[in-house]
This record gives sequence, structure tokens and C-alpha cells, in this order.
Amino acid sequence: MTPPIVTLIEGDGIGPEITAATLRAIAAVGGEITWERADAGAAAVEKHRDPLPPATLDSITRNKIALKAPLATPSGGGYRSVNVTLRQTFDLYANVRPAQTIPGVPSRYTNVDMVIVRENTEDLYAGIEHYIDPRRSAAESIAIITRFGSERIVRYAFDYARRHGRKKVTIVHKANILKMSNGLFLDTGREVAKAYPEIECDDMIVDATAMRMVVAPERFDIIVTMNLFGDILSDLAAGLIGGLGVAPASNIGDAGCAMFEAVHGTAPDIAGKGIANPTGLMLSAAMLLDHVGQRAAGDRLRAGVRAALADAASRTGDLGGKANTAQFTDAVIRNAT
Ligand SMILES: NC(=O)c1ccc[n+]([C@@H]2O[C@H](COP(=O)([O-])OP(=O)(O)OC[C@H]3O[C@@H](n4cnc5c(N)ncnc54)[C@H](O)[C@@H]3O)[C@@H](O)[C@H]2O)c1
Repeated sequence: MTPPIVTLIEGDGIGPEITAATLRAIAAVGGEITWERADAGAAAVEKHRDPLPPATLDSITRNKIALKAPLATPSGGGYRSVNVTLRQTFDLYANVRPAQTIPGVPSRYTNVDMVIVRENTEDLYAGIEHYIDPRRSAAESIAIITRFGSERIVRYAFDYARRHGRKKVTIVHKANILKMSNGLFLDTGREVAKAYPEIECDDMIVDATAMRMVVAPERFDIIVTMNLFGDILSDLAAGLIGGLGVAPASNIGDAGCAMFEAVHGTAPDIAGKGIANPTGLMLSAAMLLDHVGQRAAGDRLRAGVRAALADAASRTGDLGGKANTAQFTDAVIRNAT
């Protein structure tokens, strides 16, 4: 088998450090990938005066798959978020964020195993906003929900459930108040669910969902929801398993197009010190290995990460340990079976 070619964006801040660690771990678990390096973010501004150079877009267009470390985004002014641009350019409509308890990672819960499937392109994030008067005394943002967008994200959630042997999909909405936009999402979702009789389907209002996730997270399996609710609930889910530092994510489009990324940022306060925790990017890379049909290597990588985190001696500083990035990576590789 010829290894797939994957675009690799090393990112800013701790990006290059966690990328190097992740590449070493992928090679050790037998992942076979040919990497094509491409620049984005602050590093690309420095080199090419462009946070997302055409060569990077060309590389992703060619390869369809990317592994991306965090990128610095200036707040307020400066350039537009490269992450958002990439999702829109490649129509990566499904944001998939698994949240599973990891023994050894400090958290209030021991029994979380859920996946948030968030619609990534519509809703209030469609970018339709304006001030309604010249004095800017009021503004409005418009949420667009389409039958097309609702259908493909709910279908993605059910297909994901089938592929991963999951049992239940919960459609999350606010259709009691937003009767048209959220009603459309809910009705379309229920219609899609009929084609998957072996998978249980229920629905829940978003505020009740937030409360239930905190009180009884074990009740959830897959949650599928719109962009804004998904944005908030996926961070809530990460909080249930110990925070954004250990959370992986993927952004999936049609025809195999996908981008895998750690959820945390560039951690400028610890960049260059060799102490960053590469867990988020490694678990994202395991999802990438699944995506390219190398599931056994993905499982080995997940097992290695979980075992390394379970042992206090190999945990990094952000999780109360003393190991550095290289020592943690050595432990992942030792434990990957
Ligand atoms: N997906 C992305 O590319 C992404 C996501 C979030 C933030 N950002 C960008 O990152 C920059 C910094 O953002 P921020 O400070 O708000 O959030 P951050 O996630 O970079 O850092 C928050 C805190 O968590 C720690 N931390 C984060 N990841 C860690 C890791 N892997 N190992 C150890 N410690 C870790 C940091 O040291 C810091 O104390 C900003 O430019 C922001 O725009 C990018």
C-alpha cells in the first residue's frame, strides 16, 4: 500500500514541539504517512506575509487531509482566523470531538464517553451581522439553518455511530423557542433517524442538555447539534474529562476531506521550553490514522497515550507531573501495544 500523503501544519508557539512528538509516536506505532509540510498562521506571516499562503491551500486541495497544530490568531484586528477560513474553504461541515475519561487526568468524573458532532458551517456563524442604525446602538446577527445542512450533519452522526458501534444519538436544539430554525433542524434530524432503526435516537433542549451533561454525563453517547450550541457543549464536554489540553478534534467534509487538530491554543507562555503536553495532537492523529484506514495503528497510539497518562511519572507539568514532552512521548511509545 502506498502511504497516504497528508498536509502537515506545524503551527505556532508549542506547535512545532508537539508536532515533532506526534510524528515520532505515529512512526513508532506503525502509522504509514508521507507528510507534506505547509505553512500557516504567524509562522507563515513571517515567511510569506500571508497567514494562509496559496501553496498551503494547494497542498490541502491535493491531499484532502491535514494534521494541524495550533495557530496564533490575533484578537480584534489583524488577520481573520485561519482555522475558520480552512473550515469554510474546504466545507468541513462536521466538527467531531470525542470526550472520554482518561485515567490519571485530573477530572471530577470517571465515566464520560461521549462524542459531540457539531455542524460547522451554518447557524449564527454564517457571518450575517450588522448594526441596525448609524449610531451603532443595536446590532443583529442572523442564524441560518438549512434542511441540507441539518440533514448531512445528522446523517454524519448516525453513520459515525454505525462505524464506531455506538448506540444512541441525541439531537440537541432549542425548538421550543426557535420554532422555525431549530424546529427545522429537529424535524429533519428525526426524519434522518428513521433510516437507522438499530440506533436509539432522542432529543433534548440545549439548556437541559448542559445541566444533564454535568449531573449525569454517562447518559450521553453521541450528541448532534448546530454550530453555536456545539461550540459551547464541546468545550463543556472537554471540561468533563480534564480540560482542553487533552481534547482531540476533527473537521470532516465530503469525499474524504478532513482536518485533524488539537483543541488547545499555542500556549505562548511555555513555547520553546520542551514541556508541552502533546496529548491533544496525538489523539487527533489517532483519529487521522482511523480516517486513512490505519485503525490498528490508531488504537495503538490511543493505548500508548492512555497508559502514559495513567502513570504519574510520565505526566507533563500541566497535569501535575514532572515529565517533559520527550519523556512523555517515550512513555507513549513504550506503552503502545
Ligand atoms: N486551534 C487553534 O489553532 C487555537 C485554539 C485556541 C487558541 N488559539 C490561539 O492560541 C493563542 C494562545 O491562546 P490562549 O492562551 O487563550 O490558549 P492556550 O490553549 O494556548 O493556553 C491556555 C493555557 O493552557 C496551557 N496549555 C495549552 N495547551 C497546552 C499543552 N498542550 N500543554 C501544556 N499546557 C498547555 C497554556 O500554557 C496556557 O497556560 C492565541 O493566539 C489563540 O488565538 C489557537
